[in-house]
Amino acid sequence: MINKDFYSELEEFIAKLSDKKDDVKILNYVLDRLGAIPKEVQKFIAEKTGLMEITIENTINFYPKFRGKDSRVKEVAVCVGMNCGPAGGQQIYNELVKILEPDEKGLSKDGKILLTTKRCFGRCAKGPNVSIDGVIYSLMNLQDVKRKLGL
Ligand code: FES
Repeated sequence: MINKDFYSELEEFIAKLSDKKDDVKILNYVLDRLGAIPKEVQKFIAEKTGLMEITIENTINFYPKFRGKDSRVKEVAVCVGMNCGPAGGQQIYNELVKILEPDEKGLSKDGKILLTTKRCFGRCAKGPNVSIDGVIYSLMNLQDVKRKLGL
């Protein structure tokens, strides 16, 4: 969770720049402070600078350091199929929704996790199954998933 102080400090930092649209300087500042450039911060920068969000995204994609592993989006798919769902998969998914507050595409509020569901991984006997960045983990519970995601 990004606190309000961070946003007021970022706003002050932008206000002091001779070129308020210097997104490279701004993104460097964010990266130093947070170790990542979450989507909600990108939106905030766009709001405060008048830059378009796509422009900021392009800058992030252009410079490898802004795309560092900390700013990479983790992909999480929870199986809510016939076996995993009742075995706890649906509950895991519901709890993750409460924690991550994803948008309609499944991207978490902080822009770090993409949460989706799956109908079956073909490992029903070992459910609940959850995949994280393509690796399927079996017999999962909410605590296991949270630990793996650093939540
Ligand atoms: S229902 Fe989850 S793996 Fe089949």
